[in-house]
Amino acid sequence: MIHYDDDYYYEFSKKSNLTKNNLIFPLFVDESNKFQELNVMPGIFKVPYNKIIQTLEEVVESGVHSIILFGIPRLRNSMGTAAISKNGIVQKSLKLIKSNFGNKISTITDVCICQYNDTGHCGLFKKTKKVVDNDLTIELLSNIALSHAIAGVDIVAPSSMMDGQVKRIKEKLDINGYNKIKILSFSAKQSSSLYKPFRSETFFHSTNEIDKSTYQVPYHNPREIQREIENDIHEGSNMVMIKPAMSSLDLIYRIKKICTIPLVVQIVSGEYSMIKAASTIGLFDETMYILNLISALKRSGADKIITYSSLHISKFLI
Ligand code: PBG
Ligand code: ZN
Repeated sequence: MIHYDDDYYYEFSKKSNLTKNNLIFPLFVDESNKFQELNVMPGIFKVPYNKIIQTLEEVVESGVHSIILFGIPRLRNSMGTAAISKNGIVQKSLKLIKSNFGNKISTITDVCICQYNDTGHCGLFKKTKKVVDNDLTIELLSNIALSHAIAGVDIVAPSSMMDGQVKRIKEKLDINGYNKIKILSFSAKQSSSLYKPFRSETFFHSTNEIDKSTYQVPYHNPREIQREIENDIHEGSNMVMIKPAMSSLDLIYRIKKICTIPLVVQIVSGEYSMIKAASTIGLFDETMYILNLISALKRSGADKIITYSSLHISKFLI
């Protein structure tokens, strides 16, 4: 296989104008007390509370200063109540991070209930039917966002794809005096097979396929995707997101033309796992490919990129 050296990577990222500032690192904070590598995402860890500081020292050291937290609670129930607990894993972690790192790290939190309820769906079900109750769900989402705000988060990122989630969260934050907290909406979360590694790692019933196509947006309709984004901007989102990343270059380009607020994309778990699997068997050079990909995402119009490879790739970025 061709071997690239570090200078080659560095030159490539310089020419592509890639900076550490473009990167956001996803962090799984786990209520268990084991530091555990994810089976299907080698190199990525579930981080217990007592290892957060140590892990974030590495993050700060790498020069990446933005993280998005995904909570993995110990308990799940039908109402997803662990998601709003003052002592929930995300809330506790935020307090710890703020008191130890202050402004050195900008915090984003995933606001959803699929890790907290027992169905694995991003919404609560109606009492009698197995369908998601949109309004009940956005009420809970707004309370989750508020609990994160109280714990010191900088940016909340609703990811459940419920209608009106941004509007309800914004109202809730505003009336409680948290109007400085920004909202990054997972606006165009396409219904994708590529979230599977994330789900199998964060859900107990890991082998179940969960169909979220009734609320996530379909791949095939660019106008619908654009409408989702315009809607979120209208509801007051401060930043919008498109995912998965690799298959969305046209959307990124299209949206960047019409939106003036920051555009974020996420290289999701399945994308990370594919790249890892292919490079592990020697098909291509992992670092070079990720730099290629990030360059293409930036070229298309992405301002920030959420990637599990942030820490690794930051070594070659200014
Ligand atoms: C939870 C959530 C998911 C992802 C981000 N937030 C999973 C899902 O929608 O099922 C995907 C992250 C990834 O695959 O890396 N709502
Ligand atoms: Zn969810």
